[in-house]
Amino acid sequence: MGAASRMSCGGRLTSLLLVSSALLAIVSLSAALSIDDIASGACPGSGPTDARLECLTIAYAPLLKFDSRETFFPSGVDDFLPYMKLINQDGSDILNQPQPLTSSNLAYKSAQPLTTYLTTIKPLGENQIDERFMRGRKPTAQSPVPIYTSIVRKQADVYYDFVYYAFYPYNQGKLVGVQRFGNHVGDWEHVTLRISFKNSTNPRLVQAYSSQHSGGDCLTPSNLTFVADTAHPILYVAQGSHGTYNKPGRTVYAMLLPTTTGIDGTELADDHDGGSTVEWATWNDVVVRVEGQPLASDYTFWGYNGRWGNREGPTMVLGFHVLENGPDYPASHTVQFQLDNTAFEDCEPSNS
Ligand SMILES: *[C@@H]1O[C@H](CO)[C@@H](O)[C@H](O)[C@H]1NC(C)=O
Ligand SMILES: *[C@@H]1O[C@H](CO)[C@@H](O)[C@H](O)[C@H]1NC(C)=O
Repeated sequence: MGAASRMSCGGRLTSLLLVSSALLAIVSLSAALSIDDIASGACPGSGPTDARLECLTIAYAPLLKFDSRETFFPSGVDDFLPYMKLINQDGSDILNQPQPLTSSNLAYKSAQPLTTYLTTIKPLGENQIDERFMRGRKPTAQSPVPIYTSIVRKQADVYYDFVYYAFYPYNQGKLVGVQRFGNHVGDWEHVTLRISFKNSTNPRLVQAYSSQHSGGDCLTPSNLTFVADTAHPILYVAQGSHGTYNKPGRTVYAMLLPTTTGIDGTELADDHDGGSTVEWATWNDVVVRVEGQPLASDYTFWGYNGRWGNREGPTMVLGFHVLENGPDYPASHTVQFQLDNTAFEDCEPSNS
């Protein structure tokens, strides 16, 4: 009896072990899927058809993590434009402009790029940030904030750049003593992912670029971490300036003393404390656009070629404006390379 029950016990143990090793095999099989296998699995097919490109743009869309101290969040351009009007270089209003401005009616193109300004309808002091819309909003699954994309064919159907443009209504400048400078209304940042279709059924992420101030970082997939079991790269948005990095920490971009000190006011730095409480799952609202296709009506704003915020103010600190000009229009950062030019912002092209 005792022996029989031991045997049956052992039998059950054996089958349990078999079941659990089968489960383990399934678990390790799924763990072995690369991010690209996951993206291709979500967007099956062959070659870069428009529908597949649009699907892949969502499958690879980044997770943007905010600093826990952030108070200036992103917004859709349609959350911002109703507070803005168009002015000329001399401060005069552009005649016959639609009001309110929207993503579908902001079509103004001046002969000289960057000579018009979207400016707050309500006059704004150089240090004034009390307008509610300037704070943007915290993206959630229920109330997502759109991210705007451009899918750019780079080299004879082999390389595609997925450019993800994030819009923030306000860029908070850096504190030196008691004065902040480098504030600006409007802030566009972008992340570019280069996808190779050398294997037409299994495209691969081969390079990435994250923008900060006037430049950015050249990255490879090994520089990135991904949301578990997805192809979504994780990027960290620096407090106030929204410069985008592959890891949290401090990046000094200008020193006011001979050495770095880690102290605000002696150096200009982008900071991310790593303690994100707000994360932007950009795939919840991806506005997709394939470069070269006609603009959808809610993408009319792409044709606007002026600045996205108020003109700079007169007050300067250490050669910097307290209130800087609003940023360039986002299309000026697409990568306006010819189709056969594989140059990637200022990064060396990958041969993958
Ligand atoms: C493309 O990728 C698939 C899946 O990884 C693989 O089975 C196939 O052999 C690859 N094709 C080529 C031409 O390398
Ligand atoms: C990316 O990885 C390379 C190779 O390890 C390294 O040299 C480079 O500093 C990394 N770049 C960033 C921005 O982390």
